[in-house]
Amino acid sequence: MTFHAYAASEAKAELKPFEYESGILKGNEVEVKVETCGICHSDLSMLNDDWGMSIFPLVPGHEVIGIVESIGEHVKNVKIGQRVGVGWFSNSCMNCEWCMGGDQNLCQTAEGIIVGRHGGFADRVRIDAIWAIPIPDGVNPKSAGPLMCGGITVFNPILQFDVKPTNRVGVIGIGGLGHMALKFLNAYGCEVTAFSSSGNKEDEAKSFGADYFVNSSDSVSLKKMSGSLDFIISTVNVTLDWPAYINLLRPKGRLHVVGAAMEPIPVSVFPLLLGQKSLSASPLGSPNSMGIMLEFAARHQIEPMVEVYPMDKVNDAMEKLRLGKPRYRLVLKNQD
Ligand SMILES: NC(=O)c1ccc[n+]([C@@H]2O[C@H](COP(=O)([O-])OP(=O)(O)OC[C@H]3O[C@@H](n4cnc5c(N)ncnc54)[C@H](OP(=O)(O)O)[C@@H]3O)[C@@H](O)[C@H]2O)c1
Ligand SMILES: [Zn+2]
Ligand SMILES: [Zn+2]
Repeated sequence: MTFHAYAASEAKAELKPFEYESGILKGNEVEVKVETCGICHSDLSMLNDDWGMSIFPLVPGHEVIGIVESIGEHVKNVKIGQRVGVGWFSNSCMNCEWCMGGDQNLCQTAEGIIVGRHGGFADRVRIDAIWAIPIPDGVNPKSAGPLMCGGITVFNPILQFDVKPTNRVGVIGIGGLGHMALKFLNAYGCEVTAFSSSGNKEDEAKSFGADYFVNSSDSVSLKKMSGSLDFIISTVNVTLDWPAYINLLRPKGRLHVVGAAMEPIPVSVFPLLLGQKSLSASPLGSPNSMGIMLEFAARHQIEPMVEVYPMDKVNDAMEKLRLGKPRYRLVLKNQD
């Protein structure tokens, strides 16, 4: 079968129509007809080859919502005609310690859907069945794409680190990931502070669930809040004053990083040691955690705030992301 996609031929190139042959569907695989695909900052980083792991031609896209069109002979978890979501991963070994323990996102041989293979800026994608996540009733499929990468990346740490409804938490960077983090943490019951470098996001951040709004690089405000938060999640891909954020934590607090900042984070042992504080990072979440997130989103009517572009306007959308302008997630839509 011929899949129709948008690909870049080299780093930073414009995305152009691109066709490829999908080959024979394997027994463990699911073929999904793409309805929508969100645009994550990681798509831009892959397009720019910021991480040195891009292979061209590159078809970005890893926040897919679509309909199962074909399934391999061994597939049991989804049916033809069912609506599913697909995120960063397209395969994991299902044999290693991490896969067997239900942490397939930590599988050291897991395959990224846009790493050496083609993603969701396309009419179709193929993935291993366990990474085709059923979309429950109560989740709006038109805006659900961004939950599949951005959403799970900020939701999974709540599960992993047992964040409590009584906790005071912070979200650094109110973009695609950050605005979903505000919504999840607010629905969880936490008191939430948004840290943003964009003063004009204050009203929206509060509408997403932030109780307080602080300039992310205002050292005076950060100092005033020292020792006040239990959990901080950073979604920015730039260098901030990390020691100032560690200083914001209460004893046993955690600064958790999901934004792909490229510069090293300097940490002194003593501020961590004296308060038994932690610094950590994580990739996405397991299929099981994605199911839990979708159920939670349905129960609390949490949906990403999206701006929809037709698939053939993909370059306009990428440019908007490059300029830091999305409010708050851009989504590409194929024609019905
Ligand atoms: N760990 C994972 O598994 C995982 C998964 C998905 C994405 N990511 C990474 O997470 C990061 C965020 O992705 P995204 O899609 O949410 O990106 P995004 O929509 O572009 O949001 C990033 C936010 O960072 C803040 N920011 C940008 N430049 C800044 C600067 N110079 N100073 C201070 N703040 C700045 C902005 O928020 P304010 O305007 O509020 O300051 C911006 O909205 C990316 O690095 C992406 O690759 C990681
Ligand atoms: Zn992503
Ligand atoms: Zn594995």
